[in-house]
Amino acid sequence: MGKVSVSMLSADFGHLADACRMVNESPAWGFHLDIMDGVFVPNISYGFPVIEAIASHAKKPLDAHLMTVEPSRYYTRYKEAGINWLTVHYETCPHLNRDLQEIRRLGMKAGVALNPATPVGLLEQAIYQADLVLVMSVNPGFGGQAFIETSFEKVEQLDNMRKEKDLNFLIQVDGGINHTNAEILYKKGADILVAGNYVFKSKDPAAAIGSIASSVSQPHTL
Ligand code: DX5
Ligand code: ZN
Repeated sequence: MGKVSVSMLSADFGHLADACRMVNESPAWGFHLDIMDGVFVPNISYGFPVIEAIASHAKKPLDAHLMTVEPSRYYTRYKEAGINWLTVHYETCPHLNRDLQEIRRLGMKAGVALNPATPVGLLEQAIYQADLVLVMSVNPGFGGQAFIETSFEKVEQLDNMRKEKDLNFLIQVDGGINHTNAEILYKKGADILVAGNYVFKSKDPAAAIGSIASSVSQPHTL
């Protein structure tokens, strides 16, 4: 089974506890929390009260994806809110090594996300401090967008970088995931796929998660 992190952005916020229960009981690996500030991306999502509400129901890892400027102002609060994996954008962190080290120091796994236009090669130096690299396969800001095909190549490049440098960071892909592109992504080396729209627009969200997770043909073992 491949790992699936469910993007709660597409959940019905009036029935968040039900959505959390569905994820808990599904084959999902964890909860993906999209934090948007209306500055780095042209949308505002939710903040600490909603994160804490999800955390109080979640029985699986909480993976937060920060689409915010100056993310370091709140690392401690994310830790206190129960976040396990904290991912910042390369484009928002001029001192990326320091950010990743600080996230690890606080006891969380440190991730770095790349916009579709940001090349993988820019991570050559900071990669040693990362537990996860998130490949954005849509331009960040909204759920329900179409998958950008050039993301396949970026996953391959990261998998090569991981082998060449003998590292074991995880590769996550986020945006426009469905069971068809999932199979290719897992094959190319992706470890965790994020899915929102495909899950919550389905009549049977748990089955939709299962269809992504089971599309893995050659599980990547670290
Ligand atoms: C986009 C977010 C994604 C998004 C995924 O800015 O980072 O996590 O919500 O949703 P879908 O699966 O609908 O593209
Ligand atoms: Zn995301």
